Amino acid sequence: MKKKELPRFLYGGDYNPEQWPEDTWSQDIKVFKQADINSATINVFSWALLEPREGKYDFSKLDRIVKNLSAADFDIVMATSTAAMPAWMFKKYPDVARVDYQGRRHVFGQRHNFCPNSANYQRLASDLVEKLAARYGDNPHIVAWHINNEYGGNCYCDNCAAAFRQWLKDRYQTLDNLNRAWNMNVWSHTIYDWDEITVPNELGDAWGPEGSETIVAGLSIDYLRFQSESMQKLFKMEKAIIEKHAPSIPVTTNFHSLPNKMVDYQAWAKDQDIISYDSYPAYDMPTYHPAFLYDLMRTLKHQPFMLMESTPAQVNWQPYSPLKRPGQMRATELQAVAHGADTVQFFQLKQATGGSEKFHGAVIAHSGRTDTRAFKEVARLGQDLQKVGPTIKGSNSQARVAIIFDWSNFWSFEYVDGITKDLQYVPIILDYYRQFYERNIPTDVISVDDDFSQYDLVVAPVLYMVKPGLGTKISRYVKDGGHFMTSFMSGMVDSSDNIYTGGYPGPLKDVTGVWVEESDAIVPGKSTKVAFGDHEYDAHLMCDIIHPEGATPLAKYTSEFYAGTPAVTENQYGKGMAWYVGSRLDHDGLSRVIDHAVDQCDLHGLAGEDSDLEVTKRVTKDGQELYFILNMRNEARSLPAKFKDYHDLLTGETAQPTLQAWNVEILTK
Ligand code: GLA
Ligand code: ZN
Repeated sequence: MKKKELPRFLYGGDYNPEQWPEDTWSQDIKVFKQADINSATINVFSWALLEPREGKYDFSKLDRIVKNLSAADFDIVMATSTAAMPAWMFKKYPDVARVDYQGRRHVFGQRHNFCPNSANYQRLASDLVEKLAARYGDNPHIVAWHINNEYGGNCYCDNCAAAFRQWLKDRYQTLDNLNRAWNMNVWSHTIYDWDEITVPNELGDAWGPEGSETIVAGLSIDYLRFQSESMQKLFKMEKAIIEKHAPSIPVTTNFHSLPNKMVDYQAWAKDQDIISYDSYPAYDMPTYHPAFLYDLMRTLKHQPFMLMESTPAQVNWQPYSPLKRPGQMRATELQAVAHGADTVQFFQLKQATGGSEKFHGAVIAHSGRTDTRAFKEVARLGQDLQKVGPTIKGSNSQARVAIIFDWSNFWSFEYVDGITKDLQYVPIILDYYRQFYERNIPTDVISVDDDFSQYDLVVAPVLYMVKPGLGTKISRYVKDGGHFMTSFMSGMVDSSDNIYTGGYPGPLKDVTGVWVEESDAIVPGKSTKVAFGDHEYDAHLMCDIIHPEGATPLAKYTSEFYAGTPAVTENQYGKGMAWYVGSRLDHDGLSRVIDHAVDQCDLHGLAGEDSDLEVTKRVTKDGQELYFILNMRNEARSLPAKFKDYHDLLTGETAQPTLQAWNVEILTK
């Protein structure tokens, strides 16, 4: 059945009224209304309240919460409460609790620590969701269902081991296939019986911390795929129950982190009716990092997403939490909107007085007052969204550049033992993303399965793992006129992490017109020099020694024994072009490569000039172009000349020529 859209631009967030006396609730609503808050996410962690003993349910308080919010005309995002298990469940069914990488079973105390393959957890969660969905499924105020909370984290218990063996049988059919895929004829690892397969463990498959080092990469990568799929099955289990009772209401789970390594969001996206994302940029995070995450979230379904959580003030979990500067909260929330968010939701609406998050910021702080800086800023943003939300909602973004982000690469690249221990996937992807961000060139963050033909330029940094068919897909894209850029550590292994022999970058050799003989590790504190014409730049991490086979050098190394050999190459291939970047160039060096590519592809930044304002564009369903001009810094900047006659939706007036610190303009013609 077709799902409904969200009825309006939601402004709200997580609300836990069960933590307060009921006679305070009406005052809460009054305060929210003062800030134009129109929505609340409830019931995220209420399992112990709803089911105090197995099978004994008590929905009376939740009924009153729903009634209270409904009477106030709030749109409700209804969560299912399955992310934190009540104490009795640990006591009665110890297998519901996750076992960690060190083999230790969790005990009652935290949250997000259920085993995805525990039949007891699955049954108890299904029973609860069945009751919830039957009770509230036809409530017209519920505009979305929010399953569980921030899935992530792996389990290594016996139930998971048994399910993993079955998963492997389905994938490989025979042990011969499995031994071949994992290349087990190394270190006497050959498996002769399915029950000899041991899940990754600190004293087994690995030497280092979870997710970072492994002996048998094929096994470890498969385990991550399996765990991500196990959790995805839980999501689908809950979703199917909800859909029986509320077939037309969108269902989602909140994605999170920078991004979360353990959950393959691209694989999960097809099961989400709308993507939702929890955004908590750290105080010292450059602003292109959250922008990248929003672009990734938008591209998962090529549709607007929900900003399901964010903080109106401080978080409690950073080592240091400087206050957001005046205006900064508004700018960071609108940054998400600029990149495709159709909601602005906070964690949380009312600050807890106890527990681990009592110092996490909220719309209603401990003081309960509304004459505070933070509350006034929330109220101002509420007014803004009231004004512009209806126009923005449903508008989409268009990009001609795409950066490939791939979870199998995320996993396999960070498992690599060798050349350098500093192989981190996200920072390298961000090097490239940042280049387009700084030029205000809209960028999608795509999966390897996306259609490349809609882009003029596809950038695939460290495309280490190239699954079957991908090499051909890239070659065809370039042959037909596309532009493709890749880098060191690309085209090296297949989907089981086995090397493509015959020279790197394996299936990308043809299209890039190079082969890489060796790669030199650059040790910390050192750099190698790379020159474009007369200009020299630093290169770090590693340097590929490249033999052009058809490609032409754009830049050369000027130090080390490989001085004079190509560091960056360009290859005309069919009607298109492919670039190979052989090292981790510093920002200005990479800038040279990107300038060249942008030129070749005739790409232009939205600001029409160099500007350190952030500019994005969303286009409404009837074709109206909305330009978001964001000053993401604590000092004034002038508006690019191109926009001087534009109209600001936020003020209702002509665009101001100067954007004060953290100010935002939303401009139309
Ligand atoms: C996460 C969780 C919330 C809350 C916030 C605090 O995003 O989903 O329940 O703990 O962090 O920042
Ligand atoms: Zn388990």
